Amino acid sequence: MNTFYVTTPIYYANSLPHLGHLYTMIVADTIARSKRQRGIETYFLTGTDEHGINIERAAQKAGRTPQEQADYVVSYFKRMTSAFGLDTEHGGYDIFMRTTAPFHYEGVSDFWRRCEKAKTPKGNDAIYKGHYEGWFCAACAAYKTEDEYQKGDPPTCLIHDTPLDRVSEESYFFRLSDYGEALLAVYESRPDFIRPEARANEVISFVRGGLQDLSISRLRTSVSWGIPVPDDPAHTMYVWFDALTNYITAIGFGNEERERAVGFKKFWPALHLVGKDILRFHAVYWPAFLLAAGVELPRAIVAHGMLVDPNGRKMSKTLGNTVELDVLSRFFAIDTIRYFCLREMVFGQDGRFGYDGLIDRANSDLASGLGNLSSRTLTMIARYCDSRIPSGRIPEEKLLLAKRTGVDTDETTVAGFIETARDQFLLHFENLAFSRALEAAWSVVARVDKMITDAKPWDLAKDENQKQTLGVVLYRSAESLRWLSVLLYPVMPEASRAIWKQLGLEGVPDKIDPSTLKWGELPEGTAIGEVQAVFPRLDKTQILSDIRSGSESVKSPVQEPPASEPSESTNFIEIDDFAKVDLRVGQVLSAERVPKADKLLLLKIDLGEAQPRQILAGIAQYYEPEKLIGRKVVIVANLKPRKLRGLESQGMVVAASYGEEGRPVIATFTEDVPNGARLK
Ligand code: MSP
Repeated sequence: MNTFYVTTPIYYANSLPHLGHLYTMIVADTIARSKRQRGIETYFLTGTDEHGINIERAAQKAGRTPQEQADYVVSYFKRMTSAFGLDTEHGGYDIFMRTTAPFHYEGVSDFWRRCEKAKTPKGNDAIYKGHYEGWFCAACAAYKTEDEYQKGDPPTCLIHDTPLDRVSEESYFFRLSDYGEALLAVYESRPDFIRPEARANEVISFVRGGLQDLSISRLRTSVSWGIPVPDDPAHTMYVWFDALTNYITAIGFGNEERERAVGFKKFWPALHLVGKDILRFHAVYWPAFLLAAGVELPRAIVAHGMLVDPNGRKMSKTLGNTVELDVLSRFFAIDTIRYFCLREMVFGQDGRFGYDGLIDRANSDLASGLGNLSSRTLTMIARYCDSRIPSGRIPEEKLLLAKRTGVDTDETTVAGFIETARDQFLLHFENLAFSRALEAAWSVVARVDKMITDAKPWDLAKDENQKQTLGVVLYRSAESLRWLSVLLYPVMPEASRAIWKQLGLEGVPDKIDPSTLKWGELPEGTAIGEVQAVFPRLDKTQILSDIRSGSESVKSPVQEPPASEPSESTNFIEIDDFAKVDLRVGQVLSAERVPKADKLLLLKIDLGEAQPRQILAGIAQYYEPEKLIGRKVVIVANLKPRKLRGLESQGMVVAASYGEEGRPVIATFTEDVPNGARLK
C-alpha cells in the first residue's frame, strides 16, 4: 500500500515552545501535505515528551504537579498549532502524541520486554543490570562523558551551561557496545538512512570511535516521573528510551486498539525529522534499540539545522533570544512564516531568523512577487476582454492567432518554462531542498512578470486588433498562477487556496498531483472570483516598532535602560519623580480571558481598598488565568484609568519585559506582605 509516515521530535513539556520548535513542524507539515496531494495516505506525528527529571523540576518550580506542567505546555502547544494551521482541523498533524498516554505505557513496556529478551549480535543479553557512576545533564536528558562537560564543582554541560547531576546508582544498561558493527553495516548499505550526508559522516565517525553501553533506567527514588521498568518498578525508564519509542506506539505497536485505529503495520517505517542536536539519539540509539527488539528500522533520519538569531546564536530559552509564537502569529500571516522558514533556511544548515529579514522577504518575494503577479493578472482579466470573451472571465489562448499578429513569437516558452520549473521544483522538493524548490517556483514568477512587462497588456487593450494577443498574455499568466497554486500548496496552503479561488476554480489545489498538471487545462471562459491582495505589503517600520513596544497594557514603569552608559544627568530622575508612581501590593481575586482579545486578561485585584480594582493586563498568552488567582502582584495604583476593548482598566500590573518581543514576567514577592502596602 502506498503510505507515508513523517514525524517531528516530541518536545519537552518543561517549557513553552518557540519558533525553533515550530520549524520542524512546518517542514513535516509541508512534506505531509505534498504526499497527500499526490494521493499517498500519510500519517504525521508531533507531540510532547512528558517524563523525566527535566519536567519534574520545571513543575516543581512552577508549583505544579508534573502532569499539570505537561497539560499546561500541551494546552499552549495546541493553541499555537491551531493558530499556525498545523493541527488536524487545518489538515496538519494526525496525532499530537503524549508520552503520558496509557497506550504508550503499554507499548513501551512491550518494547522493553522485547529488548530484554534479545541477544546482541555478539550473543550477549541486550539489557543487563549494573551500576552507573557518572554525570547527567537534566537539560539534555543525557549522560555526559569527560569531553562533554566543563570541569568544575559540579561540572557544567557544554551545551546548556547548567550544572550536572552526579549519578551513582544501580541501573539497567543497554549493551550498545555490541551494536557498532551492525549499525555501521546499516549506514553503509543505506546511504540515505541519515541525511544530509555531512551529518551521516559525523554519526559514522562517532560509531567508529567505539560505543559505550547506555544506562537506560534510573532509580525511582531519583527520578519518579517516568514509566516503570516492567517487573522492576524500583526503576524508571530512561526518558529517551521512553520518548523514542513513541514513534511506534503512536501508530499501534504494543496496543491492538491503536493498531486498528492507525496501523503500525500500515505506516511504519517513518521518516524522522530532527534537529541536528538530537541526531545521535535518533541515528545511533534508536536503530540499536530497534535492532534488538527486531523491529524494522526507520525509513530515514533527516537532521535539520538550528534557527539562530541575527547574531548567529541558537534560538533558545536559556539565551532569551527566542521568537515567540504568539508575537509571530499576531503580526504575520501563517504562509509568510512558512515561506520564510522554507526559503531562507537552506534545509540542513543553520538559518538566521530576524523580523527584519522576514519582513523584507515577505515584501520582496510575496507582496511584490507572487502576490503582485496574482493581483495584476486578475485585475487585468477583470478589466480587459479579448475579442470573444467578456471581461471578468479567463480569456482564450489562441496560439496560432497570436502568432499571426507577430507580437507573440515564442508561444511555447511560458508553457515550456513552467514545465521545466515544475520538474525542478519536484526534484528539489523530493530531496528536501525546499529553498531551491522555491527558487524554481519563483523563476516562474519572474518569467511571467517579464512576459507581461514585455507584452504590455494595458497598451494591447487599447488596440482592437491586438485583443487576441491580449487574451493570450492574460491566459498564460492565469494558467501559470494555476500551476503555481498547485505547486506551492504544501508550502503555502492558504495563499494557494486564495489564488485558486480568485481564478474562479472549483475545489482546492490540495488534491491535485503537480506531476499531472497539463498546460492549457485552465478552462477558458471561467468567471474569475473577487480579486483580493493575497500578500498585502507589510509596513516594516510600523511592525518593528509594534513588536518592540511589546504588549500595550503591561509595561515596566521603569524606562528601558539607555543604549549606552548614562553619562548625562538627564538620564537620572529625582526621588520625587519616582515617588509620583504609586506602586502597591495587590492580590489577584479573579482572572479571566477577554473574549476576542487573545492578549488580554481581565483581573480583579485586591489593593486593600473598599472595592477591588478592575485591571486589564496583556499577559493572556503567557499566563493561564486560573493560575494567577491568589497571587501577589505589584500595581501602579495611580495610573489614569483607560479603556481597553470597552473595559476600564484601573491601574497596571508591573512586569519585567524581556526578549525582542517583550515577554512579560509578573513582579511578585517571596515573603508575606499585606495587600495595599506601598513600594518605595
Ligand atoms: N524531547 C526531545 C526529543 C525527543 S524525540 C523522541 C527534545 N526536545 S526539545 O524540545 O528539546 O527539542 C525538540 C526539537 O526542537 C529538537 O529537534 C531541536 O532541534 C528543536 N529545536 C529547539 N530549538 C531549536 C532551534 N533554535 N532551531 C531549530 N530547531 C530547534 O530534544
